[in-house]
Amino acid sequence: MTLTIAAQEFALFRELLHDRCGILLPDNKKYLLETRLSGLVKDARCISFGQFYLMTKTASVHSAFFQSIIDAITTNETLWFRDRKPFEIFAGQVLPLYQDSIRAGKQQTLKIWSAACSTGQEPYSIAMSILEHDGLPGGNLAAYTQILATDISAQALALAQNGRYDSLSMGRGLPNHYIGKYFTPENNQWLINNSVRRLITFKQFNLKDPMAGLFGPFDIIFLRNVVIYFSDIFKKQLYNNLRRVMKPGGFLFLGAGESASGYSEAFEMLDRDGIIYFRLKIE
Ligand SMILES: C[S@@+](CC[C@H](N)C(=O)[O-])C[C@H]1O[C@@H](n2cnc3c(N)ncnc32)[C@H](O)[C@@H]1O
Repeated sequence: MTLTIAAQEFALFRELLHDRCGILLPDNKKYLLETRLSGLVKDARCISFGQFYLMTKTASVHSAFFQSIIDAITTNETLWFRDRKPFEIFAGQVLPLYQDSIRAGKQQTLKIWSAACSTGQEPYSIAMSILEHDGLPGGNLAAYTQILATDISAQALALAQNGRYDSLSMGRGLPNHYIGKYFTPENNQWLINNSVRRLITFKQFNLKDPMAGLFGPFDIIFLRNVVIYFSDIFKKQLYNNLRRVMKPGGFLFLGAGESASGYSEAFEMLDRDGIIYFRLKIE
């Protein structure tokens, strides 16, 4: 049975979730907390959302308890090579720049961050793009590439790290010929090959936390389909923080409909065939 959340309880939860994870629940999303959290309220033997709020308030973001709330309220929807075009730009326009730079001895590493990687399709798509690039004449990037894949959700991250996908998820955006090339069948599932996996380091990370400990500065950041859930205040802070862990001239890929414009002056907006992506200005 779904419990009812009082207006004041909703306001408290809203503030807490914003403080801890940057997520802003719009006023009309009261039902979302009711439907998604009622089960957890009962599991915690609380009689009301108010009592549950008090438990939540004292729990660390990393505790299993808080993680179950994050898993209930976040959307982990993702797919391979999501929206296709940004990945074409990444492979066709961006990677050749870094190949030239590495060949000219101007840099020794290519550091990429998939900053809300969900169940892994995004970082694995990035890694497969690198390997495909290396199959082209003169392509030699994998040896220099380090991909960091992070997410706030321990559950999503565990699935990402596991790298095992059922046929339904395999059917979502993955070019057919990549299946035999980059995956091994195992018990009705597909396991990502080590050639892809070894390019990636997985780590639980809340975008609200200080970024100094991450292995940047990054050349390229994928922050796709997550800022849409954040408040304007947090978006400003986040773009400002990203700037500090990116190399000048570095690329930022956001989700369709997401933009750094209006939140940060640090990024130049690029438009290729209607696909928008961003580049950190060189000061
Ligand atoms: C809709 S998925 C997007 C996955 C992938 N980037 C894509 O475009 O397909 C959003 C992800 O953002 C994560 N997320 C939400 N708030 C976060 C935060 N504060 N820090 C890190 N990750 C967060 C969620 O756990 C979820 O896995």
